[in-house]
Amino acid sequence: MKRRLLIAGNWKMNGLSSDLVEIDAMALAAAPFADHIDVVVCPPATLLMAAAPRCAVGMLGAQDCHHAEKGAFTGAISAPQLRDAGVRHVIVGHSERRQYCGETDAMVAAKAAAALGAGLSVMLCVGETLPVRDAGMAEAFVLDQLAASLPDAAAMAITDQTLAVAYEPRWAIGTGRTASTDDVAAMHQAIRRFIADRFGAPAGEALRILYGGSVTGETAPSLLALDDVDGALVGGASLLATSFAAIIAAAAKVAAVKR
Ligand code: PGA
Repeated sequence: MKRRLLIAGNWKMNGLSSDLVEIDAMALAAAPFADHIDVVVCPPATLLMAAAPRCAVGMLGAQDCHHAEKGAFTGAISAPQLRDAGVRHVIVGHSERRQYCGETDAMVAAKAAAALGAGLSVMLCVGETLPVRDAGMAEAFVLDQLAASLPDAAAMAITDQTLAVAYEPRWAIGTGRTASTDDVAAMHQAIRRFIADRFGAPAGEALRILYGGSVTGETAPSLLALDDVDGALVGGASLLATSFAAIIAAAAKVAAVKR
Protein backbone atom coordinates (compact mmCIF):
# COMPACT_ATOMS: atom_id res chain seq x y z
CA MET A 1 0.00 0.00 0.00
CA LYS A 2 1.21 3.44 -0.90
CA ARG A 3 2.18 5.59 2.08
CA ARG A 4 1.23 9.22 1.63
CA LEU A 5 3.30 11.64 3.67
CA LEU A 6 1.41 12.99 6.68
CA ILE A 7 2.39 16.33 8.17
CA ALA A 8 0.68 17.04 11.48
CA GLY A 9 0.93 20.18 13.60
CA ASN A 10 0.47 19.97 17.36
CA TRP A 11 -0.25 23.34 18.92
CA LYS A 12 -0.14 21.95 22.46
CA MET A 13 -1.48 24.50 25.02
CA ASN A 14 -1.04 27.40 22.64
CA GLY A 15 -3.49 29.41 20.61
CA LEU A 16 -6.35 31.84 21.13
CA SER A 17 -9.22 32.61 18.80
CA SER A 18 -7.09 35.38 17.31
CA ASP A 19 -4.76 32.63 16.04
CA LEU A 20 -7.43 30.97 13.91
CA VAL A 21 -6.18 33.04 10.98
CA GLU A 22 -3.08 30.82 11.06
CA ILE A 23 -5.31 27.83 10.34
CA ASP A 24 -6.82 29.68 7.37
CA ALA A 25 -3.32 30.25 6.02
CA MET A 26 -2.32 26.63 6.67
CA ALA A 27 -5.36 25.36 4.78
CA LEU A 28 -4.39 27.59 1.88
CA ALA A 29 -0.78 26.41 1.99
CA ALA A 30 -1.83 22.76 1.98
CA ALA A 31 -4.51 23.01 -0.71
CA PRO A 32 -2.22 22.80 -3.79
CA PHE A 33 -0.74 19.52 -2.49
CA ALA A 34 -3.96 17.88 -1.33
CA ASP A 35 -3.68 15.09 -3.91
CA HIS A 36 -0.20 14.10 -2.73
CA ILE A 37 0.21 14.67 1.00
CA ASP A 38 -1.99 14.76 4.10
CA VAL A 39 -1.86 17.81 6.34
CA VAL A 40 -3.39 17.86 9.82
CA VAL A 41 -3.51 20.58 12.44
CA CYS A 42 -4.27 19.89 16.11
CA PRO A 43 -5.21 23.12 17.91
CA PRO A 44 -6.27 23.12 21.58
CA ALA A 45 -9.75 21.81 22.33
CA THR A 46 -11.08 25.33 22.88
CA LEU A 47 -10.53 26.13 19.19
CA LEU A 48 -11.69 22.89 17.59
CA MET A 49 -15.26 23.88 16.73
CA ALA A 50 -14.22 27.28 15.42
CA ALA A 51 -11.39 25.70 13.43
CA ALA A 52 -13.55 22.99 11.82
CA PRO A 53 -15.20 25.11 9.10
CA ARG A 54 -11.86 26.76 8.31
CA CYS A 55 -10.13 23.42 7.71
CA ALA A 56 -10.10 21.35 4.56
CA VAL A 57 -11.87 17.98 4.83
CA GLY A 58 -9.84 15.65 7.05
CA MET A 59 -7.45 18.34 8.25
CA LEU A 60 -8.59 18.81 11.85
CA GLY A 61 -7.00 16.86 14.67
CA ALA A 62 -7.11 16.87 18.46
CA GLN A 63 -4.29 16.39 20.95
CA ASP A 64 -5.82 13.79 23.24
CA CYS A 65 -9.07 12.00 24.06
CA HIS A 66 -10.52 10.11 27.00
CA HIS A 67 -10.91 6.34 26.73
CA ALA A 68 -14.56 6.32 27.80
CA GLU A 69 -17.41 7.22 25.50
CA LYS A 70 -19.07 9.50 28.05
CA GLY A 71 -19.65 9.87 31.77
CA ALA A 72 -18.42 11.44 34.97
CA PHE A 73 -14.91 12.48 33.94
CA THR A 74 -14.80 16.20 34.69
CA GLY A 75 -12.72 18.15 32.22
CA ALA A 76 -12.18 15.25 29.83
CA ILE A 77 -13.27 15.02 26.19
CA SER A 78 -14.34 11.77 24.58
CA ALA A 79 -13.56 10.52 21.09
CA PRO A 80 -17.22 10.71 19.97
CA GLN A 81 -17.33 14.32 21.20
CA LEU A 82 -14.26 15.12 19.11
CA ARG A 83 -15.79 13.46 16.09
CA ASP A 84 -18.97 15.47 16.68
CA ALA A 85 -16.89 18.67 16.72
CA GLY A 86 -15.57 17.94 13.24
CA VAL A 87 -12.29 16.32 14.30
CA ARG A 88 -10.89 13.48 12.17
CA HIS A 89 -7.54 12.69 13.84
CA VAL A 90 -6.26 12.46 17.38
CA ILE A 91 -2.83 12.26 18.95
CA VAL A 92 -2.59 9.69 21.75
CA GLY A 93 0.31 8.94 24.08
CA HIS A 94 2.22 12.15 23.52
CA SER A 95 5.27 12.15 25.80
CA GLU A 96 4.05 15.29 27.57
CA ARG A 97 0.86 13.49 28.55
CA ARG A 98 2.82 10.42 29.58
CA GLN A 99 5.20 12.60 31.62
CA TYR A 100 2.91 15.26 33.12
CA CYS A 101 -0.42 13.46 33.26
CA GLY A 102 0.83 10.04 34.24
CA GLU A 103 -0.51 8.25 31.18
CA THR A 104 0.50 4.62 31.03
CA ASP A 105 0.84 2.41 27.98
CA ALA A 106 -2.43 0.71 28.91
CA MET A 107 -4.23 4.05 29.06
CA VAL A 108 -2.78 5.00 25.70
CA ALA A 109 -3.97 1.72 24.18
CA ALA A 110 -7.47 2.32 25.60
CA LYS A 111 -7.54 5.85 24.17
CA ALA A 112 -6.40 4.58 20.78
CA ALA A 113 -9.13 1.93 20.83
CA ALA A 114 -11.76 4.53 21.75
CA ALA A 115 -10.60 6.88 19.01
CA LEU A 116 -10.66 4.18 16.33
CA GLY A 117 -14.07 3.08 17.57
CA ALA A 118 -15.36 6.63 17.12
CA GLY A 119 -14.07 6.79 13.56
CA LEU A 120 -11.01 8.93 14.28
CA SER A 121 -7.53 8.30 12.88
CA VAL A 122 -4.86 7.89 15.51
CA MET A 123 -1.32 9.19 15.77
CA LEU A 124 0.21 7.06 18.51
CA CYS A 125 3.38 8.53 20.02
CA VAL A 126 6.35 6.64 21.37
CA GLY A 127 9.86 7.78 22.26
CA GLU A 128 12.74 7.33 24.66
CA THR A 129 14.39 9.71 27.13
CA LEU A 130 18.03 10.74 26.81
CA PRO A 131 19.32 8.45 29.61
CA VAL A 132 17.63 5.50 27.88
CA ARG A 133 19.29 6.41 24.58
CA ASP A 134 22.66 6.96 26.24
CA ALA A 135 22.38 3.53 27.83
CA GLY A 136 21.96 2.00 24.35
CA MET A 137 18.40 0.89 25.19
CA ALA A 138 16.43 3.20 22.87
CA GLU A 139 15.23 0.56 20.42
CA ALA A 140 14.20 -1.96 23.06
CA PHE A 141 12.43 0.75 25.06
CA VAL A 142 10.49 2.14 22.09
CA LEU A 143 9.42 -1.29 20.85
CA ASP A 144 8.26 -2.31 24.34
CA GLN A 145 6.35 0.95 24.67
CA LEU A 146 4.79 0.46 21.26
CA ALA A 147 3.82 -3.15 21.94
CA ALA A 148 2.05 -2.14 25.15
CA SER A 149 0.38 0.96 23.66
CA LEU A 150 -1.21 -0.68 20.62
CA PRO A 151 -4.96 -1.27 20.81
CA ASP A 152 -6.48 -4.66 19.98
CA ALA A 153 -7.66 -3.36 16.61
CA ALA A 154 -4.12 -2.30 15.67
CA ALA A 155 -3.56 -4.79 12.84
CA MET A 156 -6.54 -3.59 10.85
CA ALA A 157 -6.02 0.09 11.71
CA ILE A 158 -2.40 -0.01 10.60
CA THR A 159 -3.27 -1.76 7.37
CA ASP A 160 -6.03 0.70 6.49
CA GLN A 161 -3.78 3.56 7.70
CA THR A 162 -6.13 4.85 10.36
CA LEU A 163 -3.35 4.31 12.89
CA ALA A 164 0.07 5.89 12.42
CA VAL A 165 2.99 5.70 14.83
CA ALA A 166 4.90 8.86 15.71
CA TYR A 167 8.47 8.33 16.90
CA GLU A 168 9.37 11.29 19.07
CA PRO A 169 12.57 11.03 21.11
CA ARG A 170 11.73 13.03 24.23
CA TRP A 171 15.08 14.76 24.29
CA ALA A 172 14.39 16.19 20.83
CA ILE A 173 11.00 17.71 21.68
CA GLY A 174 11.03 21.48 21.96
CA THR A 175 14.80 21.50 22.48
CA GLY A 176 16.00 22.43 19.01
CA ARG A 177 17.87 19.10 18.96
CA THR A 178 16.84 16.81 16.14
CA ALA A 179 17.83 13.16 16.15
CA SER A 180 20.40 12.34 13.46
CA THR A 181 19.05 10.95 10.22
CA ASP A 182 20.94 7.71 10.95
CA ASP A 183 19.24 7.36 14.33
CA VAL A 184 15.83 8.17 12.88
CA ALA A 185 16.31 5.75 9.97
CA ALA A 186 17.36 2.95 12.33
CA MET A 187 14.46 3.47 14.74
CA HIS A 188 11.84 3.74 12.00
CA GLN A 189 13.19 0.59 10.38
CA ALA A 190 13.01 -1.22 13.72
CA ILE A 191 9.41 -0.09 14.24
CA ARG A 192 8.39 -1.25 10.76
CA ARG A 193 10.12 -4.61 11.24
CA PHE A 194 8.38 -5.06 14.60
CA ILE A 195 4.95 -4.37 13.07
CA ALA A 196 5.66 -6.69 10.12
CA ASP A 197 6.77 -9.49 12.48
CA ARG A 198 3.73 -9.03 14.68
CA PHE A 199 0.95 -8.38 12.16
CA GLY A 200 2.39 -9.55 8.84
CA ALA A 201 4.26 -7.99 5.95
CA PRO A 202 1.31 -6.03 4.48
CA ALA A 203 0.80 -4.23 7.82
CA GLY A 204 4.52 -3.47 8.02
CA GLU A 205 4.44 -2.09 4.50
CA ALA A 206 1.30 0.01 5.11
CA LEU A 207 2.32 1.49 8.49
CA ARG A 208 2.89 5.23 8.42
CA ILE A 209 5.67 6.26 10.79
CA LEU A 210 6.02 9.95 11.58
CA TYR A 211 9.07 11.56 13.11
CA GLY A 212 8.68 14.30 15.71
CA GLY A 213 11.09 16.45 17.67
CA SER A 214 12.13 19.97 16.66
CA VAL A 215 11.22 19.47 13.00
CA THR A 216 11.57 22.68 10.98
CA GLY A 217 11.55 23.71 7.35
CA GLU A 218 15.33 23.26 7.40
CA THR A 219 15.43 19.76 8.87
CA ALA A 220 12.29 18.39 7.20
CA PRO A 221 13.76 17.66 3.73
CA SER A 222 16.47 15.24 4.92
CA LEU A 223 14.19 13.57 7.49
CA LEU A 224 11.25 13.12 5.12
CA ALA A 225 13.54 11.76 2.39
CA LEU A 226 14.37 8.72 4.54
CA ASP A 227 12.71 5.52 3.30
CA ASP A 228 10.88 4.71 6.50
CA VAL A 229 9.84 8.23 7.41
CA ASP A 230 6.28 8.85 6.27
CA GLY A 231 5.68 12.24 7.76
CA ALA A 232 6.30 14.55 10.69
CA LEU A 233 4.61 15.54 13.93
CA VAL A 234 5.51 19.17 14.41
CA GLY A 235 5.18 21.23 17.58
CA GLY A 236 6.77 24.67 17.72
CA ALA A 237 7.08 25.12 13.97
CA SER A 238 3.35 24.43 13.49
CA LEU A 239 2.19 27.48 15.45
CA LEU A 240 2.71 29.90 12.59
CA ALA A 241 1.52 29.26 9.06
CA THR A 242 4.79 30.55 7.59
CA SER A 243 6.98 27.99 9.36
CA PHE A 244 4.43 25.17 8.95
CA ALA A 245 4.05 25.97 5.24
CA ALA A 246 7.80 25.51 4.81
CA ILE A 247 7.45 21.95 6.13
CA ILE A 248 4.39 21.31 3.95
CA ALA A 249 6.33 22.51 0.90
CA ALA A 250 9.30 20.30 1.83
CA ALA A 251 6.97 17.32 2.13
CA ALA A 252 5.35 18.05 -1.23
CA LYS A 253 8.78 18.17 -2.86
CA VAL A 254 9.83 14.89 -1.25
CA ALA A 255 6.52 13.24 -2.16
CA ALA A 256 7.08 14.09 -5.80
CA VAL A 257 10.31 12.09 -5.94
CA LYS A 258 9.81 9.52 -3.21
CA ARG A 259 6.67 7.67 -4.18
P1 PGA B 1 8.51 20.22 18.72
O1 PGA B 1 7.34 19.28 19.29
O2 PGA B 1 8.41 20.18 17.22
O3 PGA B 1 8.25 21.56 19.30
O4 PGA B 1 9.81 19.61 19.18
C1 PGA B 1 7.03 18.06 18.68
C2 PGA B 1 5.95 17.36 19.45
O5 PGA B 1 5.98 17.37 20.67
O6 PGA B 1 5.02 16.76 18.84
